[in-house]
Amino acid sequence: MSRFAYVNGRFVRHGIASVHIEDRGYQFADGVYEVIALAGGRFVDLDLHLTRLERSLGELRIAKPMSDRALAMVLGNLARRNGIRDGSVYLQITRGVAPRDFAFPANAEPQVVATARRARPVDPAALAQGVKAITIPDLRWARCDIKSVGLLPAAMGKQAAREAGAYEAWQYDRDGFVTEGTSSNAWIVTRDDELITRPPTHAILNGITRLVVIELAKAAGLRFVERPFTVEEALAAREAFVTSTTSFVMPITRLDDATIGDGKPGPFVGQLRARYLSHMARIAGAGA
Ligand code: PDD
Repeated sequence: MSRFAYVNGRFVRHGIASVHIEDRGYQFADGVYEVIALAGGRFVDLDLHLTRLERSLGELRIAKPMSDRALAMVLGNLARRNGIRDGSVYLQITRGVAPRDFAFPANAEPQVVATARRARPVDPAALAQGVKAITIPDLRWARCDIKSVGLLPAAMGKQAAREAGAYEAWQYDRDGFVTEGTSSNAWIVTRDDELITRPPTHAILNGITRLVVIELAKAAGLRFVERPFTVEEALAAREAFVTSTTSFVMPITRLDDATIGDGKPGPFVGQLRARYLSHMARIAGAGA
């Protein structure tokens, strides 16, 4: 964990870092966040994350507290102070501190906090064999495109996954279509070798890893189709996997009690993970 955290303009010891009890993030989940990976001391796709952050803030009419350049400096400084070159930073911006009232306060100042975390070693068995996902109804709100800190349904879903011995929970909508994982985007490869992921509507978070993997898949000449798919299609798929800033590209080989494909990570996920790791290595290699 962080030795130092960033809180509203200052780097403070992590153990005593705090915001006021009437922060609207605490009372209303009135805030947004980003998780950005670090590879070799450099941020992975920082611009894409900052663009999404600006969009999330704009959709909620939270004032952007500082320029992208200033934010990048703060996050870089935080990573260096914590001695972290490979890992991730967590950045959270809430609407601010104000006496509790549902409507937006007139002059609250956005509260900006950030922490940094070292990368956890990837379990080689998970990569070699793939991991399990369970399926659960999507209980979230109608604006999942906003990366808000209102994560209770996601926390409940991840807990259900953990209790089932699974890595992730894939959420499905009222029509039986998979939306996404609790903290990742969901992908399948059909028996016709079509690579499929859901389009970025209000029903999902448009993952940055998702966007990069789409480009990598296109560059590799894979047949990519952006459309919703059902749980039934996923159960009948040749391959399944998830993408996220912290999991990169992770093969799913069991869905509920069923085996996906032949039960081993397939060639699509193997190739896309390798290409994604090369993408990160290129960024890392560009110098700290
Ligand atoms: N989660 N969908 C949801 C609901 C997510 O929370 C995330 C990311 C993703 C993947 O987005 P990206 O590729 O930009 O990381 C998709 C982050 C990692 C988290 O909450 O920790």
